[in-house]
Amino acid sequence: MDPAHAEELSEEDARGVARVVQKLRKARRVLAVTGAGVSADSGVPTYRGVGGLYRSDRLTPTGFTIEEVLSGPMFEVRPDVTWTYLKEIERACRGVRPNRGHAVLAEMQDHFDAVWVLTQNVDGLHGAAGSRHVLDVHGDLHEIRCTACPHRDRVVNYDGLGDPPECPRCGAVLRPDVVLFGEMLDPAKIRRLEAEMARGFDVVFSIGTSSLFDYIVAPLRIAQAAGKTTVEINPDETAMSGLVDVKIHARAALTLDRIWEGYMEWWPHT
Ligand code: OAD
Repeated sequence: MDPAHAEELSEEDARGVARVVQKLRKARRVLAVTGAGVSADSGVPTYRGVGGLYRSDRLTPTGFTIEEVLSGPMFEVRPDVTWTYLKEIERACRGVRPNRGHAVLAEMQDHFDAVWVLTQNVDGLHGAAGSRHVLDVHGDLHEIRCTACPHRDRVVNYDGLGDPPECPRCGAVLRPDVVLFGEMLDPAKIRRLEAEMARGFDVVFSIGTSSLFDYIVAPLRIAQAAGKTTVEINPDETAMSGLVDVKIHARAALTLDRIWEGYMEWWPHT
């Protein structure tokens, strides 16, 4: 069966889960690096792959690729165009709820000294599930800020926002507090990540990401160089698949549920 839809783990993946449980028993600090695949189990489309928002054959009616319309340079000159596609992403995230994968990462917090989540997702679902240490390096779609003045607002959805929306205080164009293509990451979040990496993580997960960006892959490489455990949970292969200690070819929610089941079977008896 297609691992992206399977209801049960293959024998090989179940063995991988057992190895991860063994490692977690001795772990004190855990990092989960997450991407769109974690939210796929909540019904949010991924960016790439089947059903993804960024189909390579897809040019927008403006003749640009989706990555071009969602870029900082495009926003500078045609914020209305960028907003059209930001609204599409917001609609895809609307009304979705955290799934078992998000919930397990939040539950882990009661069992380890520290559980950090480094996510590329802009849907806010890790925070909604209760994760307290979330570094959302690509921002949050629901945080709106003015491009000219300090005005900020948190919105539930984009209903009623103009094309493009304007600041109620100064009239300049508003934007979501997300990182568009070609823009820099928030240095404060990167500094925090580096500080936590310096303290070390015993187990580092890569979950539901195509691992395209250096800053997403770096924590796994650093953990591996330090002799720590690295795990990838993704039905597909990525550039990290051959490098991690444990590769699990299954859905994030199913795999994290089984990992947690295994861990909790052991935990009360210590
Ligand atoms: P992608 O859409 O590139 O990759 C999603 C990954 O999740 C793929 O490797 C899928 O195989 C995997 N996947 C799909 N369903 C899954 C499931 N149920 N469980 C586990 N894995 C599953 O998404 P990201 O890697 O998050 O950037 O993309 C990174 C960034 O690219 C995004 O944050 C966004 C995008 O352009 C910005 O907006 C700046």
